[in-house]
Amino acid sequence: MTTQSKIQSPTLVPEPASAGLENVVAAETILSHVDGAAGRLIVRGYDLDQLANWSFEAVLALLWRGLADGPSDEADIRAALGQARTRAFSSVEKLLPTTDNLSQIEALRLLLSSLADAEPEAHHVLAVAAVPVFAAAIARMSAGFSPVAPDATLSQAADFLYMLHGTPAAPEKVKALDTYLVTVADHGLNASTFTARVIASTKAGMFSSVIGALCALKGPLHGGAPGPVLDMLDAIGEDSRINPWLVDALARGERLMGFGHRIYRVRDPRADVLKQAVGTLRDSGGRIGFAEAVELEALALLAEKKPLRPLQTNVEFYTALVLEAVGFPRESFTNVFAAGRMAGWTAHVLEQEHVGKLIRPQSRYIGPMPDAK
Ligand code: COA
Repeated sequence: MTTQSKIQSPTLVPEPASAGLENVVAAETILSHVDGAAGRLIVRGYDLDQLANWSFEAVLALLWRGLADGPSDEADIRAALGQARTRAFSSVEKLLPTTDNLSQIEALRLLLSSLADAEPEAHHVLAVAAVPVFAAAIARMSAGFSPVAPDATLSQAADFLYMLHGTPAAPEKVKALDTYLVTVADHGLNASTFTARVIASTKAGMFSSVIGALCALKGPLHGGAPGPVLDMLDAIGEDSRINPWLVDALARGERLMGFGHRIYRVRDPRADVLKQAVGTLRDSGGRIGFAEAVELEALALLAEKKPLRPLQTNVEFYTALVLEAVGFPRESFTNVFAAGRMAGWTAHVLEQEHVGKLIRPQSRYIGPMPDAK
């Protein structure tokens, strides 16, 4: 970029924040805190490992507490979500054909856009309920199957798997998915959550705010990583190739998928919770054992190659294993992430609506100034 003349009055504008707003505090929240140095994720007063055995509905009750009218305890939220899933399903058959040429996340974006501001159902409840309904129908359509109607009596995790497979899921798979949804429910002011808060601050409403968040999640720098972990495992293929494959990839300067994190300098606490969840599942075809062998070797090689940079397993490595083991196709992984993160998005939107202040930062003009008159 060239500037035609020097800016005459830069003092009118404050100094710019660092690129990417790194280390800028842009909101106060009671919802969650990410402590990258200590490897802690705190959600409304609880460490993630304390929440790991809670249901997704109980975590919603925690996140929404005091912020919204409507169902407030675990049982009421479970019942309200069941009803809202049925409501969301009522438009699925009409809308699905319009998503024909779209990727799964583009299709989810389109279906969520059908939710109207005039909708009488509590908007935060309907937003959370709609994602698994839409995501399961989209995944089934991609595989050539018709959508399966929800069973409103089930938990959100159990019904997600039921709508995906068309048969009731084994309890350990339901538990593993429930743990995944809880693990990714909220994570500080990440890019999609910040997007949701900016939109909410304009009073655009719940659905517009969370659709904006989904658009931010779609980017490969945010929600698109777990699929490539499976691509890497497939490319390695067998035990004897683990070491040579990883050594070659690192020698070519490639990143090993599922390792490293911008904020966590020690282990990502979400990886530990998901590793435990993976351990409860049957290891069909030896996939999980193979992945663990890849993880061990990758950590050893990364420590050797980057001794000054702690590179640990991140949440995406185990996300890939959990979601594959419970039967999601890898093209749907970002939509499943959205199903969990919708909990945090809705809570942040409600919190921002309470704050009631428009988010409107400034930019620093570095373009040309008009010629002096
Ligand atoms: N494999 C190999 N080397 C890695 C690495 C990985 N997964 N992650 C980081 N590094 C290396 C970089 O090559 C760089 O080395 P250099 O200083 O010699 O150039 C150094 O570590 C720092 O990398 P940088 O990109 O500055 O770190 P970051 O904190 O900005 O990156 C990620 C964070 C997540 C983008 C990065 O670790 C990554 O690309 N991981 C793989 C993709 C992934 O798993 N994404 C999901 C994240 S939840």
